[in-house]
Amino acid sequence: MRYLTIDEALNRGSGAVNLRGWIYRERKSNKFVFIVLRDESDIIQCVISKEKNPELFEEATNLTIESSIKVSGELKKDERAPTGYEISVSDLEIIQIAEPFPITAEQSLELLYDNRHLWLRSRKLNAVLKVRHTVVGAIHEFFRSRGYYLFDAPIFQPIQSEGGATLFEVKYFEDEKIYLSQTWQLYAEAAIFSLGKIYNMGPTFRAEKSKSSRHLAEFWMAEMEVAWMKLDEVTEVAKDEVRFIIQQVLKYNRKELEILQRDIDLLERYTKENYPTIKYAEALDILNKEYQMHIPWGKDLRTIEEGKIGEYFNVPVVVTHYPTKIMGFYKPPSEDNPEEASCFDMLAPEGYCEIIGGSERSLLVDDMIKRLEAEGEDPTKYEWYFDLRKYGSVPHSGYGLGVERVVSWICGLDNIKDAIPFPRTMTRKNP
Ligand code: 4AD
Ligand code: MG
Repeated sequence: MRYLTIDEALNRGSGAVNLRGWIYRERKSNKFVFIVLRDESDIIQCVISKEKNPELFEEATNLTIESSIKVSGELKKDERAPTGYEISVSDLEIIQIAEPFPITAEQSLELLYDNRHLWLRSRKLNAVLKVRHTVVGAIHEFFRSRGYYLFDAPIFQPIQSEGGATLFEVKYFEDEKIYLSQTWQLYAEAAIFSLGKIYNMGPTFRAEKSKSSRHLAEFWMAEMEVAWMKLDEVTEVAKDEVRFIIQQVLKYNRKELEILQRDIDLLERYTKENYPTIKYAEALDILNKEYQMHIPWGKDLRTIEEGKIGEYFNVPVVVTHYPTKIMGFYKPPSEDNPEEASCFDMLAPEGYCEIIGGSERSLLVDDMIKRLEAEGEDPTKYEWYFDLRKYGSVPHSGYGLGVERVVSWICGLDNIKDAIPFPRTMTRKNP
């Protein structure tokens, strides 16, 4: 017997069909059992009539939410049904009657996270996971079609790169310790001397102690690194990448965006409009003049301030030249003003804030040694990294995009935890 997906059946619109899936909703009356069947592709209403099929009707009264079944029947248009079509069931095979499903309509968020293995089947997560699939595919396509090579770095790393405070330390064999990757970047900087233009997307780990809706302890970062490239070029690549990702989601995931009740016109606008580039100092001016937020030069922008900048422009915006003294050791002082680093963040609008962080890479070994020492690091552990400045050093730049941050924003999610199948945060590690 050939089974269609629900999606295929809906496209066909009429005739005899065989479907299989799980019970999304069920309702019984004296004369009918109404089932909403779901599979990976969609939902469809199925009706079993007592008058036409007394035996099937009897069997169907036992069905519970999430029971697995196969049905055969006649498909027809029905405006009242949730997806506009209904199947008049002529045959039903019950595969398993599900126990009472622990997730019902009004659930606390914690219960949903405890039952994440079951909640993955929800229409919401099904839609988000499909968007995530497109986003990940788009990132690979974006870089591959522009001649970048995929390059993999180790996940176990002996040195930190994004600050000791968020390092995950792991026992490494007998008595040694090592860290889980905070970024692919330092190893990528070695590889550009071989491959020129490279990218990667991989799991990234940060012991974030904040309980914000934007931080995960395990997330996926999509990074790129390019030899010879300077700040003004790398920021343009970042803009093109974000625009391309949104275009692909609009191309493949309209249905999912509707399920998520996302404002599609707004996403369309993000694919068409220019994304401005401003300096950190200009951002402070805007905060000061437009929002009466008086941030002294030298302080990092917090979520609330990033949110206002996003609101002001209402498209993604690139902010460059943050104060050197608050930036990581590898972000170089700019040539015009050493107080400002040749670095950037991209901020998404609608309160989603930082989605990308990147920079030119410092070529000044002495300066990097001083800054590492100030962070309490032992610079001798970075000898291999400094070697890269000794053997044919060239300007180079790169950035990292937070995959879950982008998925959250594109889907309009309230919490980044819903942008990844099994979230890991300080307070959530199960299931
Ligand atoms: O700004 P970050 O820390 O930059 C780097 O790690 C650079 N080494 C990247 C590079 O230049 N190759 O992180 C990059 C992005 C952030 O903009 C954010 O989108 C995401 O990674 N990110 C997180 N996403 C979820 N949870 C967290 N805890 C995150 N920390 C960073
Ligand atoms: Mg950052």
